[in-house]
Amino acid sequence: MMTPPVSSAAPLTELSAFVPSFRASAPYIHAFRGKTFVVAFGGEVIADETFPNFIADLNLLASLGVRLVLVHGSRPQIEKLLVQREMKSTYHRGVRVTDEHQLGSVIGATARAKARVEAALSMAPRTASVAPIHNRVTSGNFVVAKPIGVVDGVDMKYSGEVRRIDALAINDCLKDGDIVLMSTLAYSTSGDTFNLTVEEVATQTAIALKAQKLIFLLDTPGVLNGDGSVISTLYTREAADIANKAPQASDVQLFLSASVRACQKGVSRAHLIGRKLDGAILQELFTRDGIGTMISVDSLDNLRQATIDDVGALLSIIEPLEKQGILVPRARATFEREIERFFLAEHDGQVIGCAALYPFPEANKAELACLAVNPDYRREGYGERLMKAVERAAKDHGINTLFVLTTRTAHWFIERGFRAATIADLPEKKQALYNFERNSQVYVKSL
Ligand code: ARG
Repeated sequence: MMTPPVSSAAPLTELSAFVPSFRASAPYIHAFRGKTFVVAFGGEVIADETFPNFIADLNLLASLGVRLVLVHGSRPQIEKLLVQREMKSTYHRGVRVTDEHQLGSVIGATARAKARVEAALSMAPRTASVAPIHNRVTSGNFVVAKPIGVVDGVDMKYSGEVRRIDALAINDCLKDGDIVLMSTLAYSTSGDTFNLTVEEVATQTAIALKAQKLIFLLDTPGVLNGDGSVISTLYTREAADIANKAPQASDVQLFLSASVRACQKGVSRAHLIGRKLDGAILQELFTRDGIGTMISVDSLDNLRQATIDDVGALLSIIEPLEKQGILVPRARATFEREIERFFLAEHDGQVIGCAALYPFPEANKAELACLAVNPDYRREGYGERLMKAVERAAKDHGINTLFVLTTRTAHWFIERGFRAATIADLPEKKQALYNFERNSQVYVKSL
């Protein structure tokens, strides 16, 4: 019997931590609505005691509008059944060789495992007083299989691979709001049943659906560094290097290569997360740093010039600093008028920092103004990159001296090549505007 996940009301002291973390997850909730995620997990996950919680988290994702495709494996279940029937498991290159005597057991064990997933998905959590989430689960013959054939002289027999994925049919189900559940059994056009690997089905499905995410659950908490710590992000090329060279656990090796293949074929991101930590998938998806390893094609960071649509985001960075007196308050209209003077740093699509360039061409000088980075992203080099962008733009204007006015962050500028100067070093126009009450210090840097 599975026990539904239980939760208790958070003690009052935890509420204060809940509010900021819920707010921080809001952009992800928004970004994931209507997106397709393929989640792959081995049969070990089904046998885990945290399985009902994992399934509840998946139901939660579906109820937030994520189009969810689940692909489950059943290796331990098959192994157990084969042992009971006194048959031996044979693997070649990590893939089971499924012969005609074993195929029946493979089908039986896979079907049972699938039934467990369906049952768990249908279970109403006892947690909420509101109506339980009920997501419809659909399966079908979405995969056309073909035999793997002979590998290194080994006939893989009824072990198969994907010939084609019926993306249209899967999309129809997703459109209706169903959760699509796929197993590793698939049929060939000749009517034979084949046993596929979970990573093969999941990867090909993610590619065919042009999924935003492909997620694998691992035995380890992620792809591990030599010192045992989790590597948080990898670009496709680095991931391919690790998959080819560095020794990793076998599931990591297989899933990492699969992730690289998926990313190279248009899946935006692949995530490798540990199966043993309760709630890992939520932490991975709804926090900035996640908890496992994320493989992506592009850098998450972007630096660009601001447009009029960015005024709101810009103000959210600047206003707190104005309140603390670190930046001089400016009218909203000023931002709208001067928006193209601003450069923005983005992380994962969110504006997290800004800086502006105010040229005084008659004096051959320019001001680096409004340099600000969201406190959650400090000490990660964003400020420096913004400063460099402003320096480059100043040079493009043919200007060779940059100055800043600062009351509290002088050391930061000194460390980056600025030196103390006086009001007399400012362009005349700027001197006229100098606010003596604020008593800012002047720093300059030759470019
Ligand atoms: N929550 C974000 C996402 O799902 C970022 C996750 C970052 N994860 C990581 N292992 N670095 O896209």
